[in-house]
Amino acid sequence: MAGGERDPDLPADRPASLPAGRPSGLIGKEIAGYLLESEIGRGGMAVVYRARDLRLDRTVALKLLAPELARNDTFRKRFAHESRVAASIDHPHIVPVFDAGETEGILYIAMRYVAGQDLVALLSREGPLPPATAGRIAAQVASALDAAHAHDLVHRDVKPGNILVAEGTDRDHPEHVYLTDFGLTKKSLSLTGFTTVGEFVGTLDYVAPEQISGKPVDGRCDVYSLACVVFETLVGAPPFHRETDWAVLWAQQYDPPPPLSEVRPGLPEAADAVFARALSKSPEERYGTCLEFVAALRSALAEPGTGTGTGGEVLTTGTRPPGPPPAPPAWARPVFREL
Ligand SMILES: Nc1ncnc2c1ncn2[C@@H]1O[C@H](COP(=O)(O)OP(=O)(O)O)[C@@H](O)[C@H]1O
Ligand SMILES: [Mg+2]
Repeated sequence: MAGGERDPDLPADRPASLPAGRPSGLIGKEIAGYLLESEIGRGGMAVVYRARDLRLDRTVALKLLAPELARNDTFRKRFAHESRVAASIDHPHIVPVFDAGETEGILYIAMRYVAGQDLVALLSREGPLPPATAGRIAAQVASALDAAHAHDLVHRDVKPGNILVAEGTDRDHPEHVYLTDFGLTKKSLSLTGFTTVGEFVGTLDYVAPEQISGKPVDGRCDVYSLACVVFETLVGAPPFHRETDWAVLWAQQYDPPPPLSEVRPGLPEAADAVFARALSKSPEERYGTCLEFVAALRSALAEPGTGTGTGGEVLTTGTRPPGPPPAPPAWARPVFREL
């Protein structure tokens, strides 16, 4: 695309963050042989539409890079990278990519339309999930992540918004889960950090300590993020939920996770040790694979619970000792750069 050229169909005042509720102006338009039918989601980088593939006459999910970001080379590269990474892994729990390209300055990825909802929507509708359901969802995400790791790829953005839950095949498999959004995926042991524009758009609730401090990352940072997500599916809030981004960054680096059995009385204490290990500050102390973590968790959750609670309570406990909180360290500063 030529520099900052704008598609004439797009509203001139459209902000980079594409806030929800704004009519996109693209519904009913055809892009690269896909007829846009409705908007189904948006994240930090893109808007996702349900669309009709006019060549094959089927429904697809069409992900379009936000028009403002399409002028930014970093985002363009990341978006193109995402389509290649996602397409390179053939796995039942990774959304298959059908097609990707650029037309009239719009970058797109066409992929399987997942009829369902992401985990953010599911949790806000259902609240904390029964342990068996949480375990099934965790196992499917874990197998997708371990497959990515086997390709020497680290997802680096495991969070509820990137986990799609569709209806399963039968009573034994009530849900089918897909991991999506490979936009931040990197080769194992590559350096991460905050220097890339937009790296941490959105929530910090699932970011591993080594990602925050800019150390090399490998698959164990996904183990950590997955553990944050699974914790949330069980209690309704991630383990290091705090009032401000500064406090979340601090907690991810220095606070111990609250024991699961205290946050949701009734869950077995055996699960506390599993989360303590998966959420270790040091990657060496975590489980070696995501499935190892989930297997340990599911067997801990199968043990009898200790308390008498119904397990439905949602409490968020802070673990900070009394007294004023320490000043946030200097390394955290560039995180809040605006797009
Ligand atoms: N294949 C799909 N089928 C259905 N919905 C999807 C699909 N891919 C993404 N979504 C929805 O769109 C949202 C944003 O997609 P995502 O790929 O995470 O974009 P971003 O890179 O902007 O975060 C997701 O949270 C999900 O709700
Ligand atoms: Mg996303």
